[in-house]
Amino acid sequence: MKGFLSSSIGKKLLMSLSGLFLIVFLLVHLGLNLTMLFDPVNGKVYNVAANFMATNPIIKVVEPILALGFLIHIIYGLIVQLNNWKARGNNKYAVVNQKESSTWASRNMIWLGIFVFAFLVVHIINFYVKIKFTGDLDETSIGGKNIHDTFTLVTSLFEIWWYDLIYIISFVALGLHLHHAFWSAFQTLGWNNKIWRRRLEVISDIYAIIIVAGFSIIPLYFLIF
Ligand code: HEM
Repeated sequence: MKGFLSSSIGKKLLMSLSGLFLIVFLLVHLGLNLTMLFDPVNGKVYNVAANFMATNPIIKVVEPILALGFLIHIIYGLIVQLNNWKARGNNKYAVVNQKESSTWASRNMIWLGIFVFAFLVVHIINFYVKIKFTGDLDETSIGGKNIHDTFTLVTSLFEIWWYDLIYIISFVALGLHLHHAFWSAFQTLGWNNKIWRRRLEVISDIYAIIIVAGFSIIPLYFLIF
């Protein structure tokens, strides 16, 4: 098993499984964030949903698994990329040939990933640390119960134009990562016949557009209205 996971196929398999796990996580996260638009004045729906996510015991179990998913994806992403660079350094023809048959996003997965990672760190400092550890946010009363006012924390940042700009650019980088990543993960898992390759590429793009547009529309709403 240890030998398999350190083989190049094993590493790619871990990349695809952790990546697909993160793909599902992004959809859940987007669903949660979109509840902000259901009640954009008081943010009651979002506050209840965010409080559920912060306190539910099942989510508490999922959280460390999610952190592990990110960790595996990032560490193996760096290893796979370093190996690719080493292999290409030994075969200059492969570099020319690859440029003809691949997309810009597929050749820059590591840089897009590093950009997303930088955003992730800022995002964790801005939200997660305050919600989970420092408690550095207001409270609101819903149904006679005091809970964190996560809505005010998030929307006060979304009212800053340059924050929104960085936020949206980061999601565009993630969208480009996903444009290649989604179908590539299925290909790694062996689902790569000609008809399905084209279909998966289309699904990849639809998914990437949903993620970029869905996450971006929220800060834009609070900036404009
Ligand atoms: C929520 C965020 C992310 C998602 C949903 C995601 C998803 C994926 C998926 C599904 C793949 C395809 C794997 C395959 O081809 O089998 C992939 C590839 C890749 N990811 Fe991510 N990723 C994310 C963040 C990151 C980050 C933060 C990094 C690194 C800093 C990263 C680095 C890479 C690299 C280098 C590849 C290409 C590996 C190869 O050459 O095959 N990703 N990603």
